[in-house]
Amino acid sequence: GDSIVVADLANKLALKGGEVVKALFKMGVMATINQSIDHDTAALVVEELGHTAVRATDTDAESTLIALTGEIQGEVEPRPPVVTIMGHVDHGKTSLLDYLRRTKVAKGEAGGITQHIGAYHVETPKGVISFLDTPGHAAFSAMRARGAKLTDVIVLVVAADDGVKPQTVEAIQHARASNVPLVVAINKIDKSDANPDRVRQELIQHEVLAEEFGGDVQMVPISAKQGTGIDELLDAILLQAEVLELTAVRDARAAGVVIESSLDKGRGPMATVLVQRGTLKKGDYLVCGTQYGRVRALFDESGQQVQEATPSIPVVVLGLSGVPDAGDDFVVVEDERLAKDVAQQREAKRRETRLVKQAGNRMEDVLAQM
Ligand code: GTP
Ligand code: MG
Repeated sequence: GDSIVVADLANKLALKGGEVVKALFKMGVMATINQSIDHDTAALVVEELGHTAVRATDTDAESTLIALTGEIQGEVEPRPPVVTIMGHVDHGKTSLLDYLRRTKVAKGEAGGITQHIGAYHVETPKGVISFLDTPGHAAFSAMRARGAKLTDVIVLVVAADDGVKPQTVEAIQHARASNVPLVVAINKIDKSDANPDRVRQELIQHEVLAEEFGGDVQMVPISAKQGTGIDELLDAILLQAEVLELTAVRDARAAGVVIESSLDKGRGPMATVLVQRGTLKKGDYLVCGTQYGRVRALFDESGQQVQEATPSIPVVVLGLSGVPDAGDDFVVVEDERLAKDVAQQREAKRRETRLVKQAGNRMEDVLAQM
């Protein structure tokens, strides 16, 4: 295949030839500055040196995929907000999610799938909201590591009888770092020692300023246990979403991210995905991480079969070749051939990276003993 001389590569990176030779050596590749290395090795050493590899002459399946998805254009339309719930231990995150699921998610009929899925959407008179169930989840870490954003709004749950605690502060820092706006749910207001004003006061110290104090953060008193204030909380989320003017192309091939996945004995690989762009339909061919397949069936959060899923809507996908990882991207492609090629090339690349890493580790062992 294609190759590049080490000295030329060093030149492109504005590095000394020796530095590239050293990095290659660490990876277990012996080459002098006058020797050629293949493009895959070059890409790996470039990454190893902390640069991003962009190969202009690449004509592999992945590039074809990028070219094709890059072409997708269309009219953007408003889309529902995707919300995650965060907060300190025992402040009521699960209770809130359970209350919403119990009271606001349309009930499925018998005969659907019964699996609990890690995301759901609720329909309110003022609009649709999607909730992700699992903030501590692998999908979030994987997305964060890539600098990609999964959520539009964070609902910060603070117990009115306990106030701001370490994980409350962590959530605030996370929201700030990822530039995601907060809506605060002051929970457990049914308790006799609840003190919502103390929560508002304590949040000031962390520069989270309630609207009541002239700030721009909506704070809604709720009881996840009794259902008090839940409709107001949903309204506040939708109001925040309006400010964000969230949009996506709807009339296009779908793309999105895997929220969770599993292997079902009877149905095979199952993936809960969040559609972020386009419309995912039954019969679509897709690449999903290192897996591929054709959508055999789609299910909503209440286990009912659906024909399609639009932006911000979570859905369970059947028909993949294997179980993808949480945090993997998925993208719909025109035909099965391309889906298969991309998935297989990714798998090969992943294997190769692993082998090169292992070789590099062995080389370091040898060096350590010298
Ligand atoms: P972790 O997942 O452990 O971080 O906790 P969590 O934030 O999910 O809290 P969870 O929903 O499990 O609630 C903790 C406890 O508080 C449970 O005993 C709930 O019943 C109780 N609780 C939650 N919300 C309310 C509320 O609005 N009022 C009252 N009185 N109790 C509540
Ligand atoms: Mg919980």
